[in-house]
Amino acid sequence: MTGADDASALHVDLGARGYDILVGPGLLDRAGALAAPIMRGKRAVVVTDRAVADLHLGRLRGGLEAGGIAVEDIVVEGGEETKSFDDLRSLLDALLDRRIDRATTIFALGGGVVGDLAGFAASVALRGVDFVQAPTTLLAQVDSSVGGKTGINTRHGKNLVGSFYQPRLVLADTDTLATLPPREIAAGYAEVVKYGLIDDPDFFAWCEGHGRALLDGDAAARREAVVESCRAKARTVAADEREAGRRALLNLGHTFAHAAEAAAGYGGAVLHGEAVAAGMALAFDLSVALGHCPAEDAERVRRHLAATGLPADFEDLGLADRSADSLIETMRQDKKAEGGALTFVLVRGIGHAFVARDVPAEAVRQILARRGSASGRLEKTVSA
Ligand SMILES: NC(=O)c1ccc[n+]([C@@H]2O[C@H](COP(=O)([O-])OP(=O)(O)OC[C@H]3O[C@@H](n4cnc5c(N)ncnc54)[C@H](O)[C@@H]3O)[C@@H](O)[C@H]2O)c1
Ligand SMILES: [Zn+2]
Repeated sequence: MTGADDASALHVDLGARGYDILVGPGLLDRAGALAAPIMRGKRAVVVTDRAVADLHLGRLRGGLEAGGIAVEDIVVEGGEETKSFDDLRSLLDALLDRRIDRATTIFALGGGVVGDLAGFAASVALRGVDFVQAPTTLLAQVDSSVGGKTGINTRHGKNLVGSFYQPRLVLADTDTLATLPPREIAAGYAEVVKYGLIDDPDFFAWCEGHGRALLDGDAAARREAVVESCRAKARTVAADEREAGRRALLNLGHTFAHAAEAAAGYGGAVLHGEAVAAGMALAFDLSVALGHCPAEDAERVRRHLAATGLPADFEDLGLADRSADSLIETMRQDKKAEGGALTFVLVRGIGHAFVARDVPAEAVRQILARRGSASGRLEKTVSA
């Protein structure tokens, strides 16, 4: 373990490619001391976006320099559009312009966009240079910074070009969450709830008890959520790095979510986590409709999403006018769908998720119709 007195330390057990995840306040200020043991040299290039550069780059710079590390930075625009071929090329050129070598470590400081883009660049620059994730959104701290999926979007869809490339260290400084807008916190929180729904009913109960406080700024609740989420993700990734099996459970709610995001466009009208929240509620409905899950569990999920202000239907996402058929067509093209079959993560109840292939399109159509797409709104039964 890299160790840090008041940080929680977890480990992703992937043998020689294993790494620590440190979670806690003030980590950016101590980044040099914390990262030095895993760095091959004394040189760091920080990749970040404009918004995060203004807020947190100074602390990371200072922290690295205090540890005797020379720091340069590259600031990208930010936003989902930044995960593009053009931005990847510019970033690689900027890295090569600076004459990085194999002993240089790239630090990705920002949300999932910066992490995915900088991680992918690190995986191909000089055929691979070390990188450290310094996530600054709740979504990135609980999900995208751990597990080694990197990549960019293409005109064919999101995340269709990328690599599995693990970071050497994750520094999740929970102080950075204080500057994150409430809507981004809520979106990241959806992925926190997801871990409870997949295989940890006790953690879902914790969410019911602490979710509101977390959203309202309770630092201890935020930290606990990040630690428990990273623990769940680390366990899953260690068991199935390349998603041959169990890692697929992390896609609970995501077949619906990806269709919603595609329908909304990627301009920020619907955030990923918002789509995931609605997608999880719909996955529970679908599980109930197919006879896998008690209806009370689906209602309990809906109640918690409502209590935390998260969407629970496509209607809540402003997508009530989309036809079920066009959404289902998008689901058939999802990168996880095989041969056009509809694949979903379904549940036998809260904390009991499983992968279901070949889900009948008609069942999905009925859920979408009932829960706020096209023909729907008729039987909307959301409880507050
Ligand atoms: N690799 C993975 O396993 C994985 C998993 C889930 C999601 N993702 C990807 O992550 C991306 C979404 O990540 P995201 O939600 O972090 O979005 P993001 O990186 O776009 O960040 C959201 C916004 O918050 C700003 N921001 C970041 N940190 C801030 C802070 N501390 N204070 C104030 N503003 C801050 C950013 O500038 C941006 O405008 C998507 O592209 C998605 O595909 C990847
Ligand atoms: Zn997600």
